[in-house]
Amino acid sequence: MAHKRSQSDSYTKRAQKEGYPARSVYKLKELQRRFAPVPRGGSILDIGAAPGSWSLYVHRKLLGSGGRITAVDLLPLKLSPLPNRITPLQGDAFSPEIMQKITELGPYDAVISDAAPATTGNRTIDTARSEELGLEIINLARTVLVPGGNLVIKLFQGGGEAALTEKMRRDFSRVKSCKPKASRSESFEIFLIGTGKHTEGGL
Ligand SMILES: C[S@@+](CC[C@H](N)C(=O)[O-])C[C@H]1O[C@@H](n2cnc3c(N)ncnc32)[C@H](O)[C@@H]1O
Repeated sequence: MAHKRSQSDSYTKRAQKEGYPARSVYKLKELQRRFAPVPRGGSILDIGAAPGSWSLYVHRKLLGSGGRITAVDLLPLKLSPLPNRITPLQGDAFSPEIMQKITELGPYDAVISDAAPATTGNRTIDTARSEELGLEIINLARTVLVPGGNLVIKLFQGGGEAALTEKMRRDFSRVKSCKPKASRSESFEIFLIGTGKHTEGGL
């Protein structure tokens, strides 16, 4: 346990050293190495993007010369300077105003989301909210992803992962789950990765 914690802390130090505002960058890095959800040079929607380490990683390593990112969060990004190919949208990703802007800036080759509901400490409530958020992201991805596009969502274990996996299987050729090494051992989060969106919203 102590070893795990010091390993986690080493991710925080590494993030600072590499100029990322959050250690969560290493979760996306592992997901990308294992499942390649973010295509090089693509148009990417990052939901729950603040403080901005996932968007910054995609910008640094995967945008190539033609890609761009729409980064949505309730909170502001903490990226200074803000790279000009990251378009920040501040607000609730599922409000009509933000949904309209997301749609106007789309479609997207990948939707990546590290969004999590504010936790209460009550696991039943927290997992139910996480499932609800996951469902909203899957529904949003259905309308804004290109055929062949990919989706990453975060979910609290116990938060309906079987139901959400099943739902994603209707939209994507492959669906995998993963708890990255950079995820704290005490955290009960996992990620679901859907790749190869079907042409239509479901089969
Ligand atoms: C763990 S943080 C994301 C960290 C980010 N991936 C990074 O690497 O910097 C989760 C974020 O989800 C955001 N979030 C939760 N619900 C949201 C919603 N409905 N719309 C937009 N953002 C949301 C929170 O404000 C929070 O900043």
